[in-house]
Amino acid sequence: MLLIHNLAEVATPRGSTPRRGAEQGQVYRLRGAEVLCQDGRIIFVGPPEERLRLWGELPEAARLDGRGGTLIPGFVDPHTHLPWAGTREEEFAARLAGKTYQEIAAAGGGILSTVASTRRASEEELTGCVLRRMDQMLAWGTTTAEAKSGYGLTLGDELKQLRAIRRAAESHPVDLVPTLLAAHEVPPEHRQDRGRYVDLICNEIVPAAAEAGLARFCDVFCERGVFSAEESRRVLEAGARHGLAPRLHADEFADSGGAELAAQLGALSADHLMAVSDAGIEALAGSGVTAVLLPGTSFFLMKKAYAPARRLVAAGVPVALATDCNPGSSHTESMPMIVVLAVLQLGLTIEESLTAATLNAACSLGLGAEIGSIEPGKCADLVLLDAPNLLHLAYHYGINPVAAVVKEGRVARRAV
Ligand code: NIG
Ligand code: FE
Repeated sequence: MLLIHNLAEVATPRGSTPRRGAEQGQVYRLRGAEVLCQDGRIIFVGPPEERLRLWGELPEAARLDGRGGTLIPGFVDPHTHLPWAGTREEEFAARLAGKTYQEIAAAGGGILSTVASTRRASEEELTGCVLRRMDQMLAWGTTTAEAKSGYGLTLGDELKQLRAIRRAAESHPVDLVPTLLAAHEVPPEHRQDRGRYVDLICNEIVPAAAEAGLARFCDVFCERGVFSAEESRRVLEAGARHGLAPRLHADEFADSGGAELAAQLGALSADHLMAVSDAGIEALAGSGVTAVLLPGTSFFLMKKAYAPARRLVAAGVPVALATDCNPGSSHTESMPMIVVLAVLQLGLTIEESLTAATLNAACSLGLGAEIGSIEPGKCADLVLLDAPNLLHLAYHYGINPVAAVVKEGRVARRAV
């Protein structure tokens, strides 16, 4: 048993399905509540008097002193590109000097530069890279993250990346949900016959990843100049035939019909959406798709355009937040940073942002019944903030607000 006491407040959304519209901002803030965990689950949330009445003094239970802080659900980061090798700081410098992300990609840099270094790395090296990033995630309060392949782009290298994700997850408290993103880019050896690469994904890479149990989702970079909506549909349908549920990079730089495709395919998420059209928002609104927004990408690419978060909430589309952690367009593992951007750049309230970074993110991974809120029955994945209330999560920016992280009922990290 673990008793978390001496808290200023517990702040959490509630439920196991995506919160949309006005519900997105419905966060319960329980002043002075305690949280009791047993066997990895939350079994009680409420005032100390009630805990004493129901459970007594609990002399045997381990204790985590909240020190007047705020307890929130562990962050769920539903869109990352974790298993890569190499760095791209020269491209970063080129962007600072005025080159655009797309210009760098067109000159053979960008994703393809990371593909080259990732192909050269061994599975052990990649596992080490993933583990280092997971340490950062944990330090910033992430307890579950999605992780995509997509820098291998051959059968062997995509599976190598997925195995690195599995190996890293086996030896780290952070849980990883693996996604096959073989359709991240057309590799150099297939530039003259891109159809063959789509065939390779559908006929070989998807079946092999599914057969080996290495992926839960199939993703596509549906974007002008990368994969068209029709190519994306082929890949995602092949994934679905093999039990990999669809999610997609949609309308990041240009409206590519990605949102509409996500709605048609019943994807769990449509991600990015910086350039989503009104028709795309309408299509999402009538579907079960969660919009996963990645304001870190707009920020890091120095774009004026951010995804239309307020219009998505107003249309009743559930909104989630993610880091997009990758070496090119958003090099961060920090969900608190993303929450700051969501509040200051996307125009979400702190309550809407919390829901987006926890429960809605969990739902976009199909895990809403297990994680994402502080309620009896849910997995005890919790973050103690060194903050007197939830607002400080955005108000005090640029610092790490995480005082401790509880993963499955155990203290997995404590700041000094
Ligand atoms: O989500 N959009 C495509 N993929 C990543 C960028 C990957 C990279 O630059 O290496 C993204 O932004
Ligand atoms: Fe991405």
